[in-house]
Amino acid sequence: MVTHKIAVITGDGIGPEVISEGVRVLEKVAELDGGFKFEFTYFPWGCEFYKETGRMMDEDGINKLKEFDAIFLGAVGAPGVPDHISLWDLLLIIRKSFDQYINLRPVKLLKGAPCPLKDVSVKDVNMTFVRENSEGEYAGSGSWLFKNKPNEVVIQDGVFSRKGCERVIRYAFELAKAEKKTLTSISKGNALNYSMVFWDQIFNEVSKDYPEVKTYSYLVDAASMFMIKDPGRFEIVVTSNLFGDILTDLGAAIAGGMGLAAGANLNPEREFPSMFEPIHGSAPDIAGKGIANPLATVWSASQMLDFFGHEDWGKKLIDIIEEMLLEKKVLPADLGGSAKTKEVGDEVLRKLG
Ligand code: NAD
Ligand code: IPM
Ligand code: MN
Repeated sequence: MVTHKIAVITGDGIGPEVISEGVRVLEKVAELDGGFKFEFTYFPWGCEFYKETGRMMDEDGINKLKEFDAIFLGAVGAPGVPDHISLWDLLLIIRKSFDQYINLRPVKLLKGAPCPLKDVSVKDVNMTFVRENSEGEYAGSGSWLFKNKPNEVVIQDGVFSRKGCERVIRYAFELAKAEKKTLTSISKGNALNYSMVFWDQIFNEVSKDYPEVKTYSYLVDAASMFMIKDPGRFEIVVTSNLFGDILTDLGAAIAGGMGLAAGANLNPEREFPSMFEPIHGSAPDIAGKGIANPLATVWSASQMLDFFGHEDWGKKLIDIIEEMLLEKKVLPADLGGSAKTKEVGDEVLRKLG
């Protein structure tokens, strides 16, 4: 029997609430399958841990996580701890240390999911974002000069390496080729005259190896407009770290909301563990009320199952989410229902078994 060893970091706010449903779902899937099992190890890291210890994770936290096959993460961030500390010292350091350079984010409108756009059908909102996840605007490089002086200056560098751009663009081409889809690159070469000119150049270079893939290239401002006005033109999308962050929240808004948006942080070489998470934050405004939508976490569990080669189960979970959206009987508050987080999880389990 195969055992998938999973490190669980439930984190802050609604993180623990949604992850407990995700874990129940994964356990049920394994029980029904009978051919594999999960072994979950919990790490109490996050903002509470920080308040007690002055650290977001153990000093050798990255070393501890290295032993696992995957990481299942809830959300990080709480009032009282500066966001740039809580996120850099936990979520972002994991993405970087484990070279999880692909952030795969489906923007797919399921049948029955709410969409704020007019005259749009499910086939028009069916994209996969491949977000660069290791460098770019998130390189963490810069300086803060003359702090608190009148001549104060801050510099935040965007770091775009040839290797970093090429590998994410190549991954997106491979995906487009395998799925027989178009590939759109989103950049901003008209204003960012080094980084994005370089990005566009590498996109063109790599495209020569994939003559069968139809490509498009948009500036990020126009792309945001088209995502609302004509989302059907996007299939596979590749973009930089920050643009991908922003555009996938926009994507979430047109594909049912933050409660349905999932993301996989992949180290494609499998040299290090990959990490699966809902893309939403800790939602302090609803934390502790038991009303958070756990379906984004269930969707990220589906991505984890795909990653381990259990694509049939991965698809089954998406089908169940779609069924629940169509039936409209057991839905959480953000999707117009009144079911609690746990009741939504119960319904997924019922439909599974
Ligand atoms: P957020 O995603 O936490 O919340 C935005 C809005 O969406 C809120 O109104 C919230 O109630 C709602 N929402 C989010 N997830 C939901 C769910 N599952 N069910 C129902 N409603 C949901 O974003 P924010 O308010 O900008 O950030 C809050 C904190 O989370 C900050 O500390 C931020 O840095 C952090 N953050 C963490 C992550 C992460 O850990 N991956 C991602 C984004 C933000
Ligand atoms: C996300 C989040 C993170 C990001 C933050 C919390 C650092 O917004 O996963 O989308 O910007 O990548
Ligand atoms: Mn984000």
